[in-house]
Amino acid sequence: MSSEAIGKKDLSRRDLLGLTAIGTATIAGLATLGGSLRLVKPNVHFEESTQFKIGKPENFPEGTVRVFDDKNCFIFSDSDGLYAVSSICTHLGCIVSLTEWGFQCPCHGSKYNPEGHVIGGPAPRSLEWFEINQDVDGSLVVDSAKTVAAGTKYIFT
Ligand code: FES
Repeated sequence: MSSEAIGKKDLSRRDLLGLTAIGTATIAGLATLGGSLRLVKPNVHFEESTQFKIGKPENFPEGTVRVFDDKNCFIFSDSDGLYAVSSICTHLGCIVSLTEWGFQCPCHGSKYNPEGHVIGGPAPRSLEWFEINQDVDGSLVVDSAKTVAAGTKYIFT
């Protein structure tokens, strides 16, 4: 092998090492730039609020029942006040129906009395009752993330 051929082989090895270094630096730079750009956008998950307005107290005269299907909630008004009961069955999460004797689940037949206590079927516990408060604008607000004991009612002031 001639010395010129050995020189070319050494030179191409240097070129290969140089290209490898440049490639590695470029990839590292792009990864760093990508990571930096990701920091500009906040890493936030937007979830629907658990609080929802149901209207003014005068919209709930004594004896009314209103169904908020999109919120999975029943609102009842009686002589003691207002209360919110979940329509989500505590067995596997189907939506219960209102009956003349309470609530019934169409999926596996769980039955609940008018206060949401289990009276039949596989449901392991009572329907949840949600907290009701009044907003500064006078509207009533239900918070489905805050459960209250069965029988807890919002009393009009
Ligand atoms: S989901 Fe209601 S009884 Fe099974």
